Amino acid sequence: MTWLLTGGAGYIGSHVLEELQAGGTDVVVVDDLSTGLESRVPDGVPAYYVPVQKTEAIEEILREHKVTGVIHFAAKKAVGESVENPMYYYEENVGGLASLLRAMEQAGTRNMVFSSSAAVYGQPDNPEVSEDSPLVPESPYGETKAAGEWMVRASAVSRAQSENPLSYSLLRYFNVAGAKSPTLGDTSVANLIPLVFRALSEGQKPKVFGDDYSTPDGTCIRDYIHVVDLAQAHVVAAQACEAASPGGFGAAYNIGTGTGSSVLEVLDEVRAVTGNDFEHEITPRRPGDPAALVADPTKIKTELGWSAQHDLADMVSSAWEAWQAQH
Ligand code: WQD
Repeated sequence: MTWLLTGGAGYIGSHVLEELQAGGTDVVVVDDLSTGLESRVPDGVPAYYVPVQKTEAIEEILREHKVTGVIHFAAKKAVGESVENPMYYYEENVGGLASLLRAMEQAGTRNMVFSSSAAVYGQPDNPEVSEDSPLVPESPYGETKAAGEWMVRASAVSRAQSENPLSYSLLRYFNVAGAKSPTLGDTSVANLIPLVFRALSEGQKPKVFGDDYSTPDGTCIRDYIHVVDLAQAHVVAAQACEAASPGGFGAAYNIGTGTGSSVLEVLDEVRAVTGNDFEHEITPRRPGDPAALVADPTKIKTELGWSAQHDLADMVSSAWEAWQAQH
């Protein structure tokens, strides 16, 4: 078994790389290093620093390493940036995936795990979403992830009667946080926990985007998931594809804990972990934020036996260690 990880030098990709290797699976990395770091790729792992848009180069890599499956992380993921520059998101996320699926078709690669997002659900009426909830993305970022799911399915349908049918898993990540080790931390400062750390490092008050939501403490609720749990979900999803008869597996799964935490609860956890009893600042709501979004993670537990093992304290403490190591 050999799996190709696009975006394997990224924050999530490098965690999945370690889990796969630990389980005895061979890995190959493709990364354009736009946000990835060579230092995250262990010695001895074949790595190609090319964009997924290079269809022929990717096909060649798939053939050369007899790749049995691809996990596709390589994509842009900043919601705000996607609103400002939507065509960039379509080019990178939709264009990149089209090229990759084409290369996989041509090389006959039979398995795929796709990094989707809870952003495909938009602002649901019921905060706890199952995989059957409607896909109503609210940002171009979320749209490219919904489109990506359709593209993977369409490729599988078109290949169903071929010599090499496609099995796939679509993983809808909730709010990913934490690190397995200090060197694998998230280096981007785009999400709540790193933004809080940065504010503290700069002696600023962390911002809370609105405290007048219809939630118990008035702040938004999210389902934070430890990156190590997320990585293990990829391993079981990849195994499910490989274990099925060719083309015999295709499913979408929520990857969350099923437990929501409010912004104020996250800040309290940061206070406990850092020992810093800081003040925060309430600012106006951020446009487009749903009041609450929590995974119903039943499906992946029932079908693949995966469930999250780490709590918010693990996420905040490991993220803080990684932050301190980086800065
Ligand atoms: C979390 C909460 C903010 C910063 C996005 C994507 C989603 C997924 C995860 C993967 C919200 C509040 C934030 C701050 C705050 N990604 N907040 N002060 O928007 O829930 O989810 O990343 O694909 O698809 O949409 O994550 O970390 O930006 O915000 O109060 O300085 O923290 O309002 O409630 P979000 P986030």
